[in-house]
Amino acid sequence: MQIALIVALSLHILSSVFWAGTSFVLARTGGIGGEQLFRPQMGAAVIAVLSGGYLGHLVHAGSFGTPEQLLAVGALAALVAAGVQGAIGGGAIRSLRNGKADETDARSRIATAQRIAAALSR
Ligand code: HEM
Repeated sequence: MQIALIVALSLHILSSVFWAGTSFVLARTGGIGGEQLFRPQMGAAVIAVLSGGYLGHLVHAGSFGTPEQLLAVGALAALVAAGVQGAIGGGAIRSLRNGKADETDARSRIATAQRIAAALSR
């Protein structure tokens, strides 16, 4: 139990900090490097959500007081952030790879997706 908690919390903090950190960087660089970071970022988001869900099960199962309600709001914001990055950012990266989009327009869409996600991760 103790070991599971330590492993889950370490994974959660490492992946969440990477996820949020890359969102802040891509929001500031105007989407430059978005293609290279898309997969690691989405991978980190999956680990953050899964480890967060497991932590919720370990530490907060069976109650829904103020701490759990605040965690639920944070978790919802994180899920919306991942959806925006995946849909808007992922779509822009796909059209960049296919050569279908104007580069400036695609980079601006990547940066917008990252800005929205960065605001939701605060
Ligand atoms: C679906 C997404 C998420 C869920 C379900 C979730 C859930 C949780 C839970 C249950 C804990 C343990 C709280 C406790 O010990 O009482 C936790 C801790 C933490 N989470 Fe998340 N989280 C999510 C996303 C994020 C994101 C996106 C970040 C960072 C931007 C983040 C940063 C942290 C940090 C730094 C801690 C350690 C703080 C502490 O132990 O008090 N989490 N999270």
